[in-house]
Amino acid sequence: MSDSFDLIVIGGGPGGYVCAIRAAQLGMKTACIESRGSLGGTCLNVGCIPSKSLLNLSESYHKVKNEYGKQGIEVDNVKLNLSKMMQQKNKSVGVLTKGVEFLFKKNKISYLKGKGSLVSKNEVMLDDGKAKTTYKTKNIVIATGSSPTTMPGAIIDEQSILSSTGILDLKKVPKSLAVIGGGYIGLEMGSVWSRLGAEVIVLEYLDHILPGMDSEISKEFQKILIKQGFKFKLNSKVLNIKNNKESIDIEYEDNVKKNINTLNTEKVLISVGRKPNTEGLNLSKLEIKKDKKGRIQIDKKFRTNINNIFAIGDVVKGPMLAHKAEEEGIAVAEILSGQSGHVNYNVIPGVIYTSPEVATVGKTEDELKKENISYKVGKFPFLANSRAKVNNETDGFVKIIADSKTDRVLGVHIIGPHSGDMIAEMALAMEFGASSEDIARTCHAHPTHTEAIKEAALAVDKRPIHF
Ligand code: NAI
Repeated sequence: MSDSFDLIVIGGGPGGYVCAIRAAQLGMKTACIESRGSLGGTCLNVGCIPSKSLLNLSESYHKVKNEYGKQGIEVDNVKLNLSKMMQQKNKSVGVLTKGVEFLFKKNKISYLKGKGSLVSKNEVMLDDGKAKTTYKTKNIVIATGSSPTTMPGAIIDEQSILSSTGILDLKKVPKSLAVIGGGYIGLEMGSVWSRLGAEVIVLEYLDHILPGMDSEISKEFQKILIKQGFKFKLNSKVLNIKNNKESIDIEYEDNVKKNINTLNTEKVLISVGRKPNTEGLNLSKLEIKKDKKGRIQIDKKFRTNINNIFAIGDVVKGPMLAHKAEEEGIAVAEILSGQSGHVNYNVIPGVIYTSPEVATVGKTEDELKKENISYKVGKFPFLANSRAKVNNETDGFVKIIADSKTDRVLGVHIIGPHSGDMIAEMALAMEFGASSEDIARTCHAHPTHTEAIKEAALAVDKRPIHF
């Protein structure tokens, strides 16, 4: 038997590492077990961070090549050096994962490298590939995240049939890329490779992209992506994927016409969702309960059916988002130290980091209709925003939904430049229970994109100034 801890966190992603840091700040002797070889989880290693790096770099390339000339900045012989771009992306990942390791040292957290599993309610085993060590602990937090789901018949080889990991490391720009699933990953990674020169086609099972998103936003976003060169096959259920080595055949059924078609493509990205990582933890031995979707079941305080074992992040219910996991990690650490840690699930922003960005927080119109809540809507287009106009980025709009009786803001949905940053103002407003009038009466700097938010708030009361 080795060291003993107040808390062992299994999983070093945004949920787990943030939980470990907060627990250490609160005076707990904390360890974090991670098997990947670097901290930061999917987000830092093969998710949010590398994809945002490629989104940023591919956008710059695309602008220099296709847009700057029209604006008086003429650059000859613009060339893509994909391997250098990938090096740049890998460098960003390296710096950030090492940064988390530094934070662990600073907070005196034991970083245990290897696979963790439960032995009993107070013992966790670490398997580092060479030896197995058991550690005693008062509390355990499971933060093991999620991995990409695949489809029947598709063998992900990360060469031709790709997951969200392989798509980040292509050695050359494919002529054609089929994306299965029009969700967050498909549209972000489709944007990267489309800007770098691939023909991108998205096959989506539903009759719209971005399930769960405000339907007006999803329609507008699809129009913008089509303008950018995306092709879409909606109502298309992929049935089979055949790897012919040189190319791939995708067999899909048209849900409306009920006929079966084949699409030939060089590469295919499978982005049909993610599943919680619950294997190998020994959950069944401890009789830890899961819900119907295979996620670890927890109560309002993140506790499993065993009172000192908690679970957070992608492995439990709720949106699979890094910032949601972080909030839960902080809440659990605070609960363990006797505080009343809490997450407001009504105010979790979601952002798609395409160009323009799509950002959303709170309720959609569809949700409010279902809940029988009467509401009013204010909208303002970026076409009428001076900063967006001078920057030549006029696609999209801001939509604010407020309660028709109290005027309290219930949801904000933005498609437009910098909306991923702008949504923070709306999240804060909602945390403070702001009305649309509060936002309308707040002075916003001119000329900024944020004025579109103020104008949308004015539009809730039918009095925008510039539209
Ligand atoms: P998703 O759940 O966002 O979208 C998957 C799509 O695949 C859905 O539209 C679904 O209808 C479609 N689909 C499923 N089976 C299909 C089939 N047989 N044929 C055709 N279409 C099919 O999943 P995605 O994009 O893989 O992302 C996974 C998770 O990662 C999401 O929960 C998301 O929250 C998170 N994520 C968040 C990002 C961000 O915050 N910017 C970026 C990337 C991922």
